[in-house]
Amino acid sequence: MPIHFWLNSHEVTTKEPAGRLVLDYLRQTERLVGTKEGCKEGDCGACMVLIGELAGNQVAYKPVTSCLMPVGELHGKHLVTIEGLNLEKLTPVQQAIVDEGGSQCGFCTPGIVVSLTGYLMQPWARGDKDGFKYALGGNLCRCTGYASLLRAGSRLGKQFGNGAAGNGKKAQNSIESLIKLNVLPDYFQTIPERLKRIPSFEQKNDKAKPETFVAGGTDIYVQRGEDLPDLKVEVLNLLPELKGISLKNGKLHVGALTTFEEFAVDPEIKKVIPEMPEYNLLNASWQIRNRATLGGNIVNASPIGDMTALLLALECDLILKSGNKQRTVPMKSFFKGYKVLNKKPSEILTEIIFPVPDKKTKIHFEKVSKRKTLDIASVNSAIKVRVEKGAIQTIEMSMGGVAPIPFFMNKTCEYLKDKPVNRQTVLDVLSVAMNEISPISDIRGSAEYKRLLVRQFIIGHFTRLYPEYLTVREFYETH
Ligand SMILES: Cc1cc2nc3c(=O)[nH]c(=O)nc-3n(C[C@H](O)[C@H](O)[C@H](O)COP(=O)(O)OP(=O)(O)OC[C@H]3O[C@@H](n4cnc5c(N)ncnc54)[C@H](O)[C@@H]3O)c2cc1C
Ligand code: FES
Ligand code: FES
Repeated sequence: MPIHFWLNSHEVTTKEPAGRLVLDYLRQTERLVGTKEGCKEGDCGACMVLIGELAGNQVAYKPVTSCLMPVGELHGKHLVTIEGLNLEKLTPVQQAIVDEGGSQCGFCTPGIVVSLTGYLMQPWARGDKDGFKYALGGNLCRCTGYASLLRAGSRLGKQFGNGAAGNGKKAQNSIESLIKLNVLPDYFQTIPERLKRIPSFEQKNDKAKPETFVAGGTDIYVQRGEDLPDLKVEVLNLLPELKGISLKNGKLHVGALTTFEEFAVDPEIKKVIPEMPEYNLLNASWQIRNRATLGGNIVNASPIGDMTALLLALECDLILKSGNKQRTVPMKSFFKGYKVLNKKPSEILTEIIFPVPDKKTKIHFEKVSKRKTLDIASVNSAIKVRVEKGAIQTIEMSMGGVAPIPFFMNKTCEYLKDKPVNRQTVLDVLSVAMNEISPISDIRGSAEYKRLLVRQFIIGHFTRLYPEYLTVREFYETH
């Protein structure tokens, strides 16, 4: 079945290989060269495009890096490049950048315009400086500096306020307002009806086994970008059954295709992990989080995967499917060695299930990386713990970056069970933890440094969660 989508205001049907990069397709085939090739690793934002997807009768847009996205996933979607945002005159976003001197070499500018426009299209967009920092998290501009771009953001914030033009209204209303305000061209109004006419993608006639799966593509394209156009890839994002979060019988069922961003803003998840929106800011950028999936984070099996570390402490079960066969694997026994998994090559991770903790259970996540944002961890850690009358009833703790696999701290947890939360317990458990981990020195830090972080994380987990039993001051003053 050909891939059928809308590119700006044009309809496209193509038999391009599903694994070909959207960036290469745009530049080499469509000759839409306003979308730039920079790092090709998701770090710079020069290749930014908007992807619009039907949600009921409306189209919701988000900025993503086209250098990590397969063409196969465009089916049924609206792909918007910088050329598709242009009007006869400069748009308010372009004008704000010009007025504030936010463009010098110009190479990064189209990506910045796309991100800022994408941000204004969000009904939840805020008009303050932090909002625009969020919007530009995935864009680099080294030459003009960020101050002028943030000033351009502030100008837009003043012009449009919170909720951009939508004032908190639903997506399509905000798009209509943005058209009236000359932020978007008219044709955006017709896109919902146009997308509805595209038949859904059918993979059933295709009997050939896939050579690999692509979810968000944010790991696999960085690792194997050159190979994928020539391989038979299965684009998991075309399988709607792998998406969504639901609560069933006291357990949260999270589709493996749930993105970092969707997970962080989901109301059920926020009830269980109220700090999730803050933890989210420590991971990648808005643009990458719009693509990176939880399933991809787990199956990629990096010892420092952030969502993997968090989920490992939540007592997750993983549902693996191959054809009609399905099995359940506890996440704690999924990782067998460095990138060796309890998973057959044909199996797809479809769902991640974890019990909703009771009200007395607390969850906490820590991450240290060289940069505060858009950087992978040196060490990360999550804890789920239940304390009653000052004593630990149940405890689950993960630690990333200290072993060849995302590591569950079995011995440390065993030791802590039934112990009181106080300074002595924390001091005692540090030596248990030090014996349990085996960090190595690498580009993310020396083994010694990582041991120090583990120590600080354990102290941090307890002092953050139970200041009534142990404060940082108390810990260090008497130490
Ligand atoms: C700029 C940048 C910043 C990043 N920052 C962070 C960060 O801060 N923290 C962090 O943890 N990670 C980070 N990452 C890494 C990456 O975004 C995450 O690991 C992400 O979760 C990978 O998910 P994906 O859907 O993109 O996986 P993909 O790249 O699509 O897939 C990864 C692997 O998993 C397999 N796979 C994916 N889904 C399934 C499934 N459902 N069933 C079976 N196999 C599957 C694929 O075949 C592939 O082998 C960053 C990446 C980039 C490019
Ligand atoms: S080219 Fe740098 S993020 Fe895509
Ligand atoms: S204008 Fe090119 S790096 Fe900023």
